[in-house]
Amino acid sequence: MGKIRMGFIGVGDMGSHHCIGFDLLAECEVRYICDMNESNVKRTLAELSNSNPLICKDYRELLDKEDLDAVVISVPNYLHREVAVAFLEAGKHVFLEKPVAHTLEDCDAIIDAAEKQERILQIGLVYRYSNLYRRMAKELENGRLGDVKLMWCKEFRDPFPPADWFYDKSKSGGAIVEKDCHHFDIFNWMIGARPVRVFASGGQHVMKQGQANLIANSYSHYDPKTITESTIVDHAFITVDYDNGSKANLGLCMYLKPRNLMGEGLEIGLIGENGGQMVARNDKTIDIAGGQDSTKEHLEIDVTSDSIMGGHTGGQTQRIEFLNCILEGSQPFASAQVGRNALLIALAAEQSILEERYVYLEELSPIEVS
Ligand SMILES: NC(=O)c1ccc[n+]([C@@H]2O[C@H](COP(=O)([O-])OP(=O)(O)OC[C@H]3O[C@@H](n4cnc5c(N)ncnc54)[C@H](O)[C@@H]3O)[C@@H](O)[C@H]2O)c1
Repeated sequence: MGKIRMGFIGVGDMGSHHCIGFDLLAECEVRYICDMNESNVKRTLAELSNSNPLICKDYRELLDKEDLDAVVISVPNYLHREVAVAFLEAGKHVFLEKPVAHTLEDCDAIIDAAEKQERILQIGLVYRYSNLYRRMAKELENGRLGDVKLMWCKEFRDPFPPADWFYDKSKSGGAIVEKDCHHFDIFNWMIGARPVRVFASGGQHVMKQGQANLIANSYSHYDPKTITESTIVDHAFITVDYDNGSKANLGLCMYLKPRNLMGEGLEIGLIGENGGQMVARNDKTIDIAGGQDSTKEHLEIDVTSDSIMGGHTGGQTQRIEFLNCILEGSQPFASAQVGRNALLIALAAEQSILEERYVYLEELSPIEVS
């Protein structure tokens, strides 16, 4: 097989990173870009050094292109189903940004299309490809802490980028669906058991519906903007119970200004049955302490070689592994099923907040943990 010929649907904050990252890989070529936002297209083109893609504004023009093997879809969540199903049905391999979709119905329609067409469908759960979380998983595999009994995630941060769709629950699925599917997936991965039920409490402390909220974000290229309509929570505490008795808790705050300046960044920690702890901080370091032999270790992880341009750790490795899946016909580590399992917890959390009760995942759908 020659180079894998790729199209990029949506080149906003995330899609531009993908396009630039794939452009650096010799096994593929950036053949098409589709986005109606001309300034986002221009920004992306300026960063490409190895490809000279054709540009279009309507993805349907690309569906029957024979010189297109795979697409990377980075459009807002409510468009995932429409765009992903169209390309899968056209026989293209798909790398789809997380969450798989903003509703379970859309998620299942996408998975169904991938299975029928026997195409590769990889979800942008980037942490599955990160040196940091792969090391955490390795330490657990080696039995350093025994089974994971308690786990937590502290995601205290600045707001989403000032793009309207994030703040409209009917388009993003809500803050927990949009953001925390990453972290629920890490819980599922490290705990390795079946999530059973979710209890969550959350609401709007600062960014309130109907009020003028000046939204500034530390990593987006969009300028600050006033957003009045916000139907998403800006904080939550969420507990997930697993069928082996393990428990995980996630704290979300989306209104830090100007961003988290405490230096700790994202914190993901766990406690094993032998009383040892392991904590990942700032997407960079892991501390392991206590347990059987009372060890204490601080690890600085290489999170540069697996990413590009200061993007998410694992960002470039996930692209390399997507191409390998196409070449070898193998299933991605961030499979659609893994994405679905994380989405279920997020949807249950959103529902738990509204209904003020435990939501059992079985109420939403039977699930498999892989
Ligand atoms: N993996 C991660 O860590 C991560 C980080 C950020 C965003 N994301 C995901 O990436 C996706 C996009 O997020 P973003 O932050 O880049 O949003 P964004 O708003 O910056 O970009 C979306 C882009 O899609 C374009 N678009 C909209 N409708 C389109 C259509 N029909 N055809 C072609 N282009 C269209 C818009 O013009 C825009 O350029 C979302 O699903 C989001 O959840 C993932």
